[in-house]
Amino acid sequence: MTGNVLLTGGAGYIGSHAAAWLLEKGWGVVVVDDFSNSSPVALERLAEIVPGADLRWHELDIRETGRLTEILRSEGVEAVVHFAGLKAVGESVERPLAYYSANVGGSVSLLQAMDAAGVRRIVFSSSCTVYGEPETLPLTEEHPRRRASSPYGRTKQMVEDVIEDVTRSDPAWRAISLRYFNPVGAHPSGRIGEDPAGIPNNLMPYVMQVAVGRRPFVAVYGDDYPTPDGTGVRDYIHVVDLAAAHEAALTALDDRTGYRALNVGTGKGHSVLEVIEAASRATGTPIPYKVVERRPGDVAATWADPSRAREELGWQAERDLDAMVADHWRWQSANPYGYAPPPSDQA
Ligand code: NAD
Ligand code: UFG
Repeated sequence: MTGNVLLTGGAGYIGSHAAAWLLEKGWGVVVVDDFSNSSPVALERLAEIVPGADLRWHELDIRETGRLTEILRSEGVEAVVHFAGLKAVGESVERPLAYYSANVGGSVSLLQAMDAAGVRRIVFSSSCTVYGEPETLPLTEEHPRRRASSPYGRTKQMVEDVIEDVTRSDPAWRAISLRYFNPVGAHPSGRIGEDPAGIPNNLMPYVMQVAVGRRPFVAVYGDDYPTPDGTGVRDYIHVVDLAAAHEAALTALDDRTGYRALNVGTGKGHSVLEVIEAASRATGTPIPYKVVERRPGDVAATWADPSRAREELGWQAERDLDAMVADHWRWQSANPYGYAPPPSDQA
């Protein structure tokens, strides 16, 4: 199916890539974003990457239920992909109410607006953080959701539950939570990509900012984990593969009723040192690093069993770590300061 889909948070890192993918496939895309962690430049570039695309956007906080209902109605929206929210794990410990308000309150507001507008299909951006510390690997969807290690993680658990309850209350609702593992990479055009505010929390943007000369070295958080080289292992997934999973989920909602949670990963784990080595190869220059203390709250290793998504969505990841770092580097090297101009050009 194609149709009109509303992307909350569609100007953000993953949302903008999902928008590009859906526009390329002929969907009408309506973005709602308050630009609290993104730039409208990403949307301008989408129009450039996909000429003639049916892209509309509204600056709005998703907690404005009334305006959101109006947009859902007036834009003829048939389904929603819900990316909007706050995502910094450490910040969520410092500012839990901001996270519960934006992530839980925002999701409830969105579901109320959808209900009022008669739009009852939703794909939700969840996270592998809902599993808590893994008991067994790879992580299947049957792994228990243990208490998440941060308020951020708990918001993802809560919103999954809210959406499941809503689908149980009325068979007209259809929903899929996609539990992302570690999204990295960028659109192959190099025109859109990840643009974290301030010092990046995540490994790949940090590595890329070192490669581009914005930071002196990567701090590797511990090399004494029970992993092959002692550094943390994660299931990195190319953001374009992740974008494709959203279209597959939207299409699956044509035939599927009720609620389902699905892992979105490659099924392969890579260590911090493997990522640094791959980035050194892609950038053609060794990336300096120093091993430091473990980061509190980090787990040794996570990777997905993605077979349920393969079976139920007909989707699987296609891009390997070398493609992830090559595409991330193309974006970072062409846009060293992300969507902002270099400091010398700023007034
Ligand atoms: P992002 O910050 O780049 O995108 C989120 C977007 O939502 C931003 O454009 C922001 O301006 C917008 N937004 C935030 N609060 C809003 C509000 N109240 N109303 C309207 N817009 C609002 O983050 P991302 O990496 O693209 O993540 C997208 C989703 O995927 C999030 O829900 C995140 O929790 C989830 N997720 C991300 C990762 C990851 O590593 N990036 C991993 C697992 C899950
Ligand atoms: N790491 C470093 N140095 C850095 C940043 C990260 O060594 O500067 C290491 C971490 O210790 C970890 C790996 O690189 O071993 C990946 O770390 P990220 O911060 O990139 O990713 P996380 O797996 O910690 O976090 C991701 C998402 C969160 C989500 C979490 C759930 O970014 O949103 O998975 O486990 F909550």
